[in-house]
Amino acid sequence: VTAPGVAIRPAEPGDHARVMAVLDDWWGGRRAMRDMLPRLFFVHFRSTSFVAERDGELVGFLAGFLSQTEPEEAYVHFVGVGPGERGTGLGRELYERFFAAARADGRRRVSCVTSPANEGSIAFHTALGFEPGPPQSDYDGPGEDRVVFSRAL
Ligand SMILES: CC(C)(COP(=O)(O)OP(=O)(O)OC[C@H]1O[C@@H](n2cnc3c(N)ncnc32)[C@H](O)[C@@H]1OP(=O)(O)O)[C@@H](O)C(=O)NCCC(=O)NCCS
Repeated sequence: VTAPGVAIRPAEPGDHARVMAVLDDWWGGRRAMRDMLPRLFFVHFRSTSFVAERDGELVGFLAGFLSQTEPEEAYVHFVGVGPGERGTGLGRELYERFFAAARADGRRRVSCVTSPANEGSIAFHTALGFEPGPPQSDYDGPGEDRVVFSRAL
């Protein structure tokens, strides 16, 4: 069930600019996140990427894809909910939409990666049933430590 007044739909190329406009703000301005979310997700991964709108205003999004290499896996690259909408279940609903799309394609596992410093993301993914692996040093390059999360579908 979608949060009252919020509609979730597959992403479109035109959504990329709208996400860019809010991304660094939504992530607390800690890191330049925009560079990590290129337009290609809104062009080539539209059936597994979603945007949430309230009265036409962007309030959340999820960018994910079906693994091209691992036939049973799907992967979420980014998920974000506007600060004013957090804690109402919208992040969970975006993931549920993704889980349904992945299951429909026969996927059995979803993974994602987050920074060990992002405590909110770790708490959120744990609440959704993801299990964390150990923090991995330099996972995404020098100084870029990451935790890999995984959840069965
Ligand atoms: C992480 C984020 C997407 C969560 O979205 P949200 O809509 O607030 O999450 P929900 O309301 O659906 O919460 C789902 C569950 O996660 C828990 N949760 C979410 N954020 C949490 C936090 N910061 N601390 C503790 N628990 C949290 C909720 O308590 C809830 O648990 P419950 O269902 O057992 O009650 C949102 O806070 C966000 O956009 N943060 C900044 C961007 C980011 O870090 N994204 C993730 C990395 S890509």
